[in-house]
Amino acid sequence: MKAAVIYETGGPEVLRHEEVPEPECPDGCVVVDAEAISVEGGDLLARAAGELPAVPHIVGYLSAGTVREVGAGVEGRAVGDRVVALNAAGSHAARRAVPAAMTWPIPAELDAARAACVPVTFGTAYECLFTAGSLAEGQTVLIHAGAGGVGMAAIQLAKRAGATVIATASSDEKLKRLKALGLDHGINYATDSFVERTNQLTDSRGVDIVIDSIGGQNLVDSVAVLGYRGTLVSVGVAARAGSALEARSLWARNNTLRGVYLGGAILPEYARIHPMISDMLQRVASGELHVEIDRSFPLAEAAAAHAYLESRRAFGRVILTP
Ligand SMILES: NC(=O)c1ccc[n+]([C@@H]2O[C@H](COP(=O)([O-])OP(=O)(O)OC[C@H]3O[C@@H](n4cnc5c(N)ncnc54)[C@H](OP(=O)(O)O)[C@@H]3O)[C@@H](O)[C@H]2O)c1
Repeated sequence: MKAAVIYETGGPEVLRHEEVPEPECPDGCVVVDAEAISVEGGDLLARAAGELPAVPHIVGYLSAGTVREVGAGVEGRAVGDRVVALNAAGSHAARRAVPAAMTWPIPAELDAARAACVPVTFGTAYECLFTAGSLAEGQTVLIHAGAGGVGMAAIQLAKRAGATVIATASSDEKLKRLKALGLDHGINYATDSFVERTNQLTDSRGVDIVIDSIGGQNLVDSVAVLGYRGTLVSVGVAARAGSALEARSLWARNNTLRGVYLGGAILPEYARIHPMISDMLQRVASGELHVEIDRSFPLAEAAAAHAYLESRRAFGRVILTP
């Protein structure tokens, strides 16, 4: 079968489309024929840096398709089932083996491409807003990188929970389009100070929750827009830089800094998180929540797909099709 593999970490050009061995189906696993692969922000990071467990390595969290093989001991999954599959790696391939527990049935009304985009973006956004942030109706949230996958999911979930939603993005065009998802106030952080604009928008009260998927100085600066007992949620490093955050900066308004990592929560809290993601799939299938897909590339052009997403020109998800 074909896969987009890497032999070293680096820029998008390290991705090569090659023939690789067919996956085996270990106990407790299913083999899924991919119909659509979602290119996630985390896939870019995994391709760009870090230790490779073996080479060639297949990056990627999420794909959706049809079960073709079921391993011993698996209950509740059968050959022919349409599922979305999540794992730490292996999505950029025509098929993959994943633990059956890390799959979700795709609701009948939902296509594979949109299903593939749901678990990590909506699951992570839910964890940021409700588990880490304890969002309540009437509160105000600032969502950085609102036009990214996690950002778009968070805007929708926050709005539907009765929050006032402020988001940042790098262009006025992206901010304009985010209004359709429920954005109340957009801030172009390429041209404006998000600290000044947020304080203007909140009459200097600050916000209850900031979701930061960018990291670096953006995380540090976000403390300045937290209201009394506000929570800053660190969830990503799209900027690929560390943050020197001074702990004392959290004192004056009794603020909280929280970290969210869906991958680290899903096994310890499986009984809560697996059904939460099933619920997100249903809400997308029903049309209550929206998955924005920017464009699709063939799997053979995975390098171009990564380069396109990394260029920050995409509005919504980029899909690979085997
Ligand atoms: N902790 C977790 O469980 C978890 C789960 C999912 C994702 N993440 C992380 O969250 C981050 C976002 O993921 P995603 O899937 O939403 O990514 P995405 O869809 O690729 O969106 C990332 C967005 O970040 C913005 N951005 C701001 N500064 C950037 C920079 N210096 N370089 C590139 N982009 C920049 C871009 O929007 P603008 O151009 O509008 O600024 C871009 O649209 C990633 O770091 C990912 O690893 C973490």
